[in-house]
Amino acid sequence: MKTIGVLTSGGDAPGMNAAIRAVVRTGIYNKVRILGIRLGYEGLIHGNLDDMEVSSVADIIHRGGTVLQSARSEDFMTEEGFKKALNVIDVYNMDGIVVLGGDGTFKGAQALSKAGIPTIGIPCTIDNDLAYTDYTIGFMTAVETVVDAIGKIRDTSSSHGRANIIEVMGRHCGDIALFAGLAGGAESVIIPEVEYDPEIIMQKVINGRNRGKLHHVIILAEGVGNSFELAEKIENVSGIETRVTVLGHIQRGGTPTSFDRIMASRMGKKAVELLLENKSNRVLGFKCNEIIDLDINEALKQKKVFQKELFDITEVLSI
Ligand code: F6P
Repeated sequence: MKTIGVLTSGGDAPGMNAAIRAVVRTGIYNKVRILGIRLGYEGLIHGNLDDMEVSSVADIIHRGGTVLQSARSEDFMTEEGFKKALNVIDVYNMDGIVVLGGDGTFKGAQALSKAGIPTIGIPCTIDNDLAYTDYTIGFMTAVETVVDAIGKIRDTSSSHGRANIIEVMGRHCGDIALFAGLAGGAESVIIPEVEYDPEIIMQKVINGRNRGKLHHVIILAEGVGNSFELAEKIENVSGIETRVTVLGHIQRGGTPTSFDRIMASRMGKKAVELLLENKSNRVLGFKCNEIIDLDINEALKQKKVFQKELFDITEVLSI
């Protein structure tokens, strides 16, 4: 293993830079040349890459985003695009590749491994939606951003005696809403994993008001549906003014938490070590407080287990 490429693909996640740093420095420590591929698989197709030195990753451990930039490449999934990528890998004598991203990124890693290029995946997505691992890098930072927003919105919610819906990201997964809702003490958490009845939410808003509660914060995961429609219903039925805040991409940026940096450092180092052991088609994860690695095909087959216990806690504590 003389040369390893590293790329970040799909939606960025805080902690990606810390993982890039770990890959680069572990590689150089082991006398491996590291090539930083820009813009994910798109950059691989076009040979958009550069040598990474120890100093290339100085001063990035605390920064959100990704210094390698990211993209969702459709061309890479075409036969022609994939062939071009293989050619670039050959021209630059890459012996292995580390990819950082979510399930889409891992499908690319699967294809590369199948084509004989040793490839290792590091789970980086704010969504925490990968079934085989308890944790994906970036998740806790996104949760902290939402918790911060809940505190601020609760202030104004109380001042005006309103109900406030905060729509958060997560694609089809409710983890950001669930964890942030619990930590932020939201009155209601609406997630795709649990069917919800708007009538019950409205009743909760009304009951709260009758008890003299001034604020009402509802966290709604984007995978559930339209928050503006729900706001209109609440307002019409309860007579309580209801506002919507769609947090959007603010959840994708910002300084990664210490936990995200530590996960990224551990997984980045381990990814290079796996390649040095001639392993391929594997993804890293976090289970029972340990860094694990498993076959990508096995990992992608797993179905995410919903943590109902956490949801039940939010229900009990928000009466
Ligand atoms: O997968 C991360 C994520 O932020 C999702 O939560 C969200 O649905 C999606 O990406 C947004 O994608 P884009 O940045 O392309 O708008």
